[in-house]
Amino acid sequence: MNFQYTETQLMIRETARKFAEEELAPSADERDEKEEFPYEAVKKMGELGFMGMMIPEQYGGVDLDTISYVLALEEIGKVDASACVIMSVNNSLVCWGLDAYGTEEQKQSYLKDLASGKKLGAFALSEPEAGSDATNQRTTAQKDGDFYILNGTKNFITNGSNADVVLVMAATDRAKGAKGVSSFIVEKNIPGFSVAKKEKKLGIRSSDTVSLAFQDCRIPAANRIGEEGSGIKFALKTLDGGRIGIATQALALAEASLDAAVKYSKERKAFDHPIAEFQAIQFKLADMATEIEAARGLTMHAASLKDRGEPFGTLAAMAKLYASRIAVHCALEAIQIHGGYGYVREYKVERFLRDSKITEIYEGTSEVQRVVIARSLLQ
Ligand code: CAA
Repeated sequence: MNFQYTETQLMIRETARKFAEEELAPSADERDEKEEFPYEAVKKMGELGFMGMMIPEQYGGVDLDTISYVLALEEIGKVDASACVIMSVNNSLVCWGLDAYGTEEQKQSYLKDLASGKKLGAFALSEPEAGSDATNQRTTAQKDGDFYILNGTKNFITNGSNADVVLVMAATDRAKGAKGVSSFIVEKNIPGFSVAKKEKKLGIRSSDTVSLAFQDCRIPAANRIGEEGSGIKFALKTLDGGRIGIATQALALAEASLDAAVKYSKERKAFDHPIAEFQAIQFKLADMATEIEAARGLTMHAASLKDRGEPFGTLAAMAKLYASRIAVHCALEAIQIHGGYGYVREYKVERFLRDSKITEIYEGTSEVQRVVIARSLLQ
């Protein structure tokens, strides 16, 4: 693995850092407080090419590698974990999935606008009774001539209320189980499509997470992605890449916690000394920094395997499992270092803890990541 970034990768990182500091940082706390979607920032992310980073230029993207994507996402995640997941879902779950499995017509009609940031995408796999058990799809898509009739409910859908286009997994033949699920491109404004419920969340409060309801929605058969019955493989393969995105979000949050802890421990005095002079604090900082480098190594390893076209699902699961765990740990340690100030909104570390927890849950819980890793060992 090459640990030296190219000129282009460093330039992308610098552009993302500048954007995050100038455009996201000033209002991130307020958006969290008000649960306000970062409309303007997402528009600018599109203009900067951040919404379709790994997509060829002919389909609206900027044709960069996964390492560049991780570097940009990391800078955004350090400042605003909500903007980070909005970007991650659009890039990893929506654009990548369409680029890898969509037809030329689907790419022209949908991918171009999604990758260039003109439109926003969402990925709808989870249901009230299908979370980790993703194959247990109750949403149905019944063939009717050149259409499918979509009925059901999806929940915990990131970007759901703001998305123009949603990739929806649904059972085309429930009797076939995992092999009876197909995936579809669904446009928001079709009759029968509605946002059923907006969640009030512990963290990532300025990203929207909603339930979506489909009642007799007529979806053109041309909007099916891949063969009928290939929907679960499509979803799980796409989620392998998504997990690199969430590992990056977790890595970024851990770094934000460490940065805040270092700054505070140099400024805060106790017993006439900056608390950074005490080993009790130093050891916490040292452990956090070590964990962060280990998480970065796993995440970049997964990204570089993906860039080389090698199997990367197990490494992506390891990266997400480990990075999400240390994100929560680093946020807790940062709060402990801040003492009482860590527990109040004035300092950012309490947000980092609230934002971190979801990285152990969405795009596959930590338990699911362990299943994926263990299966690769035992096959
Ligand atoms: N890539 C391609 N195909 C895969 C695959 C992968 N990574 N993993 C499994 N498959 C295939 C299998 O080979 C199998 O096909 P065959 O029968 O032809 O061999 C089929 O998919 C079903 O796989 P399993 O039999 O392994 O399925 P399972 O029921 O045992 O489940 C699981 C395995 C690992 C638990 C999987 O269901 C899983 O990852 N669940 C978690 C789902 C998840 O991450 N949900 C989050 C949704 S998105 C989100 O969080 C919201 C958001 O907006 C961000």
